[in-house]
Amino acid sequence: MYAKKKIAGGEPDSYLVPAYARGALESRVPRYRMPQAGMLPETAYDIIRDELMLDGNARLNLASFVTTWMEPQAERLMRESFDKNIIDHDEYPQTAEIESRCVNIIARLWNSPENEEAMGTSTIGSSEAAMLAGMALLKRWRQRRRDAGRPADRPNLVMGINIQVCWEKFCTYWDVEPRYVPMETGRYHLGAKEAAALCDENTIGVVAIMGSTYDGSYEPVAEVSRELDRLEQEQGLDIPVHVDAASGGFIAPFLEPELEWDFRVPRVCSINASGHKYGLVYPGVGWVVWRSREALPEELVFEVSYLGGKMPTFSLNFSRPASQVVAQYYNFLRLGRDGYRRVLATCRDTALYLSHSLAENHPEIRLVSDGGQVPAFAFSIEAEDAGFTVFDLSQRLRDRGWQVPAYHFPRNCEQLAVMRIVVREGFNRDLADVLLADFRRHLEWFAAHPEHRPRRSGSHFRH
Ligand SMILES: Cc1ncc(COP(=O)(O)O)c(C=O)c1O
Repeated sequence: MYAKKKIAGGEPDSYLVPAYARGALESRVPRYRMPQAGMLPETAYDIIRDELMLDGNARLNLASFVTTWMEPQAERLMRESFDKNIIDHDEYPQTAEIESRCVNIIARLWNSPENEEAMGTSTIGSSEAAMLAGMALLKRWRQRRRDAGRPADRPNLVMGINIQVCWEKFCTYWDVEPRYVPMETGRYHLGAKEAAALCDENTIGVVAIMGSTYDGSYEPVAEVSRELDRLEQEQGLDIPVHVDAASGGFIAPFLEPELEWDFRVPRVCSINASGHKYGLVYPGVGWVVWRSREALPEELVFEVSYLGGKMPTFSLNFSRPASQVVAQYYNFLRLGRDGYRRVLATCRDTALYLSHSLAENHPEIRLVSDGGQVPAFAFSIEAEDAGFTVFDLSQRLRDRGWQVPAYHFPRNCEQLAVMRIVVREGFNRDLADVLLADFRRHLEWFAAHPEHRPRRSGSHFRH
């Protein structure tokens, strides 16, 4: 969101003053108003491209889980399909067919039992997927309460304090009380017993994350489910689990196929993932799948016309380019299970190499995680007298364009300040070695400048 700027009386920064020697543009261009006359396409292109050069280099952005590299063939397919609106199923039935194939592929990737009619859809990302999954939990809980003649006005959702901000949004937008399981030193995500202890008859569900944003660790989905089984036996509460597998949903099936976190766990009623994270597609695609039709209340589903018939849809927005879904299907065909496993194993190996090299070469660095699950790891600066903090290091790494966020952990562990590095496809061993050399250079600088005054905060990171 942005506020409207005051632009009284020709302030200098109210105009762009591009100076091109070719003289293609003679007048100033208003910054916050639409210009009266247009300009040549090349000029508009140059002005905007020049501004965008000031953005960070996406490949050096080690903060983001979101894809920054795709193959040229995928890019070509995306260019050829971004003029199609994915919601127009009637006009673009083959795109709808491709989306349906993706939902099928993903449901099977997450071990949907063959006798269940799983339902799913693409979204703009995991945030929209989380909203949809949360709404389904809420509606189902309300219905159960009404059927039982019980009040349905104080719903709550149980999750770890390390939850991604989309779940806070869900709770705020839909008036659901968020119940956070706090962290403890050594337990930096949801604990199963702690989650069950916060549940009551008003709990619409428990959210477990496959790939905590703070440190990349997986939450114990099966264990949470077992604790909820126990709760059901003891108190008769039947509480569903939603798995937010924003990043892990496209990692665990390939690297840890034995790990039971998905529809193999009977209490898991829905799962979301970001196609634009380890689904390896450029930003703008997420997925959500429900175990069965019963898990998705009918009243949330709207019909749109399709080949003269009707097709069910469930989404928050309407129009969206088809290109991201097409690119997801490209990756499924192009890579197959073996290809995904290869790409992700390479990312994980690079993350492990980087984390352990840092820890072995620099005794002041302590790993909070090592990148062995989601290929992302967090580390702190241990020595009290180190003379610098993660915030200093994060700042100095920017001198060559590396963007490595630094932030404090949440409630109960606020004293823990970490940096986090996310390894994505395209970040290879060579780049990892360059980054290691830059770490060494900065750590040597801090050692040589004891007069440096450490900064205690300063990150713009918002999980
Ligand atoms: C665990 C988790 N959930 C949800 C999200 C939101 O995902 P998206 O950016 O696809 O909306 C993220 C993003 O980092 C995440 O890590």
